[in-house]
Amino acid sequence: MKKDILTLSDLEKKDFDHLFKRAAQLKERHKKGVSDFPLKGKTLGLLFDKASTRTRISFESAMVHLGGTPMFISSQDTQMSRNEPIKDTARVMSRYLDCLAIRTYSQERIEEFAEYTDIPVINALTDLYHPCQVLSDLMTVIESKGRYEDLKITWLGDGNNVAQSWINAAAVLGLNLTLACPKGYYPDEKILANALEKKCGKITIVSNPEEAARDADVIYTDVWASMGQESELESRIKLFKPFQVNKTIVAIAAKDVIVMHCLPAHREEEISEDVLEGPNSVVWDQAENKMHMHKAILEWVMA
Ligand code: CP
Ligand code: NVA
Repeated sequence: MKKDILTLSDLEKKDFDHLFKRAAQLKERHKKGVSDFPLKGKTLGLLFDKASTRTRISFESAMVHLGGTPMFISSQDTQMSRNEPIKDTARVMSRYLDCLAIRTYSQERIEEFAEYTDIPVINALTDLYHPCQVLSDLMTVIESKGRYEDLKITWLGDGNNVAQSWINAAAVLGLNLTLACPKGYYPDEKILANALEKKCGKITIVSNPEEAARDADVIYTDVWASMGQESELESRIKLFKPFQVNKTIVAIAAKDVIVMHCLPAHREEEISEDVLEGPNSVVWDQAENKMHMHKAILEWVMA
């Protein structure tokens, strides 16, 4: 059976724990200048429909560090832009590549790729989820706090793709996750219901940001308008303002709270400059860890 990572609900707790441990080992080896090339001769296609800085570059570097070759493929430059069906593109790519990471709009699109390929398919962000982001974010939480259990993890802002991957992770790992979102911008009801059904951990949604931030060990935020929602930004800004991660919010949290953001950040919208650049922020380690986690993921799915 090939290993796809389309959503974090595809993973079991033991898979998460393996990836956290392996990514930390790979990070340590990288810092010491030790290289292994377990993916020598393998190819990774990065098929992207949306912009990316971190995910694209960290996957490309990860693949090179492991001895393999990444190939960036802008879907606009493929025959898909001239209506070649996914099921044809997928079967062809499957014969050239050893793994395919896809960034696109609909989750159905990535599922169709997974169905028609016999190579692992990795979700590098859809409108619904950003699973690899949350894997590396949890690696950063473990690095900073030594654990993920018994921490109050707070999400402030839009109930978006990253938030929904946090919900999936919480349901598998038993996290204590509180999300504060403006009314009308809560995470998807079905995703939430599926997570709550697992009865693992504590997932709470509130509309009061102070309540969510109180005594938090981790505060996480993301843009108020995700890729594809740019036209809604103006109308969202007013509504989302009370959910900004700023000094007042940080002061309500635990003294040693870590502030996280998957980036790119919009300063003075979802996060204030002083908090983003301040002592509680771990955003640069968080961005770095994407590369180490992507190595662990690539090794795991292609082993
Ligand atoms: N965090 C993240 O996925 O960033 P990019 O959009 O730059 O890849
Ligand atoms: N929620 C954001 C994440 C970017 C990494 C988006 O989808 O644009």
